Amino acid sequence: MVANRLPVDFSVSPTGELSWQRSPGGLVTALEPVMQQADGAWIGWSGAPDLAHEPFDAEGMRLVPVTLSAQEIERYYEGFSNDTLWPLYHDVIAPPTYHRQWWDSYRRVNQRFAQAAADHAAHGATVWVHDYQLQLVPRMLRDLRPDLRIGFFDHIPFPPVELFGQLPWRRQIVDGLLGADVIGFQRNGDAANFVRAVRRLTDYTTRGPVITMPDAEGRPGRHVRAQAFPISIDSHRFDMLARTPEVQARAKEIRRDLGDPDIVYLGVDRLDYTKGIRHRIKAYGELLEDGRLDVTRATLVQVASPSRENVGAYQELREHVEILVGRVNGEFGELGHSAIHYLHHSYPAEEMAALYLTADVMLVTALRDGMNLVAKEYVAARSDEKGVLVLSEFTGAADELSPGPLLVNPHDIDGMKDIIVAASTMDEKEQRRRMRRLRRKIMTDDVAKWSESFLSVLAAVQPRPTDEPRH
Ligand code: F6P
Repeated sequence: MVANRLPVDFSVSPTGELSWQRSPGGLVTALEPVMQQADGAWIGWSGAPDLAHEPFDAEGMRLVPVTLSAQEIERYYEGFSNDTLWPLYHDVIAPPTYHRQWWDSYRRVNQRFAQAAADHAAHGATVWVHDYQLQLVPRMLRDLRPDLRIGFFDHIPFPPVELFGQLPWRRQIVDGLLGADVIGFQRNGDAANFVRAVRRLTDYTTRGPVITMPDAEGRPGRHVRAQAFPISIDSHRFDMLARTPEVQARAKEIRRDLGDPDIVYLGVDRLDYTKGIRHRIKAYGELLEDGRLDVTRATLVQVASPSRENVGAYQELREHVEILVGRVNGEFGELGHSAIHYLHHSYPAEEMAALYLTADVMLVTALRDGMNLVAKEYVAARSDEKGVLVLSEFTGAADELSPGPLLVNPHDIDGMKDIIVAASTMDEKEQRRRMRRLRRKIMTDDVAKWSESFLSVLAAVQPRPTDEPRH
């Protein structure tokens, strides 16, 4: 497994002591249980600058750290990955920045990851590369190790070619990805966008999901398959966790601490502009203002976990969100009744499960999201078959889970307000009907099934010599 981050983040204390904690984000949530079952190594960055560390075992996995310098973190991670690709791939919600130095660093770091994978993979091994930070690795790795079977999974959306075409290095990215045998996407639409980009930007032939690369003589050679494999969570683990007496008791305690409101709304996101947090809070504030919600009877808990704090767009977002929360609380809060409980923290899975159990309505209103695993965690936690999931149309999860959730267009503030009210007033019978349907889907289509389906398609690839021209 090759991913930008290891599942644990290192930190160095002022006295030089090394410690680690779980890394943020959906990718780790999904891949950790897969790797705990597999006999393999996870190659990734340790989360701190200039930290060289030998491979080690943690949480039941073999971890191989890749070192990044402070400048590489700035240019490859914060720059090209999160200020160029991230906004470009998420519908340019924020404007992407194009810097040649960032691209150079992205190439160099991708080469380092490819080399680490080449050094650690056994002959004929399967290597699974993940996400937008490492799109050049499949091609680089194939050049280094033609004996390997290489898969790539894109955890975020793949944009339409009309947006992707802005990228000065679009051709290199497409060729980098085509080093893989199988390229997985979250939604059919993402896979189709990629195949369209291949058609527009290269002269390779495509037939449905299969792209045929020419060999050195220009004859049809290796095939690459681009297809959707919607990712999931370890549903059973989450379901079990939420059933434990500790988590159940904690859920009751949270409700009491919130002042025993009639209705608790919950948002759980990395503090990211793609998540639609501002739109959600605006709608919630207007509902209080219109008198359609009563602060003494309803409250919104918004967990916004810290993310990419050195990137300007994230710093701006934090200011905007915090001003907005302050304004809504100042205007509509009463003694003992906060309109919004805003928590800029990350929490362990136990606390998340308790929060999900507390939430009568879960608000997932992303402006664009590859999948959104929070929506799936909420459903997995609700074995009581209560609670309503409000879900943005612009998430991969909406493609998969409809018609169970109440779908919402987060740009339509009036529409979102109506859906929030409809969710709050939904009768128990209807809640159960919808939650049952959602749970049937999520408890069956879990992360093990996701990885098995990807890996079985990859295993079916006939190994071929890499005789196509080098790039
Ligand atoms: O799922 C998208 C993703 O960017 C993952 O690649 C990443 O692990 C997660 O979100 C969190 O982001 P970051 O690693 O930048 O904190």
